[in-house]
Amino acid sequence: MFKILPEVPQDADAIELLLDKCFGEERFKKTVYKVRQGLDPVPELMLVVRSEEGALQASIRYWPLVTGSGKKALLLGPIAVEPDLQGKGVGVALIRYSMEKAKQLGHERIILVGDPEYYERFGFQPAEPLGLELPGPVEMRRFQICPLTDGALDGVFGMVLGDQSELVP
Ligand SMILES: CC(C)(COP(=O)(O)OP(=O)(O)OC[C@H]1O[C@@H](n2cnc3c(N)ncnc32)[C@H](O)[C@@H]1OP(=O)(O)O)[C@@H](O)C(=O)NCCC(=O)NCCS
Repeated sequence: MFKILPEVPQDADAIELLLDKCFGEERFKKTVYKVRQGLDPVPELMLVVRSEEGALQASIRYWPLVTGSGKKALLLGPIAVEPDLQGKGVGVALIRYSMEKAKQLGHERIILVGDPEYYERFGFQPAEPLGLELPGPVEMRRFQICPLTDGALDGVFGMVLGDQSELVP
């Protein structure tokens, strides 16, 4: 069994190590890293999975975005699970739990760049047909969005940027 818990400041170094392990140094060149620059993750959605001994086993973070049409969105990512623990349901549990929590907090939509084969099970769909764009190169099939409420994709289009103002869900 694993427990999903809030991230604490002392987790920061272990999370960087986990991200290095899962994505390597190349991750810093990704468009999503540019989008997140200067932003703080949404505190209530900084979550980790810990072993019984307290070791960090997985991490997920979300970031505040605003779309060109003025509608806000969350950016999911990165999510990473310790390689030894992958394929045991931790990723699915962490995403489902955090998406439900995001909904409870009043967020209406989530954007991410990731494998569609993994994310479609959570309700993600291609973002490009809505007319959404990212400010850098991205493989368009990996650019996805998920509504958290009915009609949450209506009138959502344009360039997706970090929301520098305080996120008001
Ligand atoms: C991707 C990741 C978060 C998934 O977490 P996980 O705990 O290993 O996954 P789970 O055990 O919850 O889910 C396993 C299921 O997801 C599928 N899956 C895992 N990674 C996948 C991928 N990249 N594409 C498609 N399916 C994937 C498995 O085939 C399995 O499917 P099944 O339920 O039909 O058998 C984790 O493997 C990881 O950290 N990978 C390295 C970093 C990464 O790629 N992060 C995501 C960026 S998009």
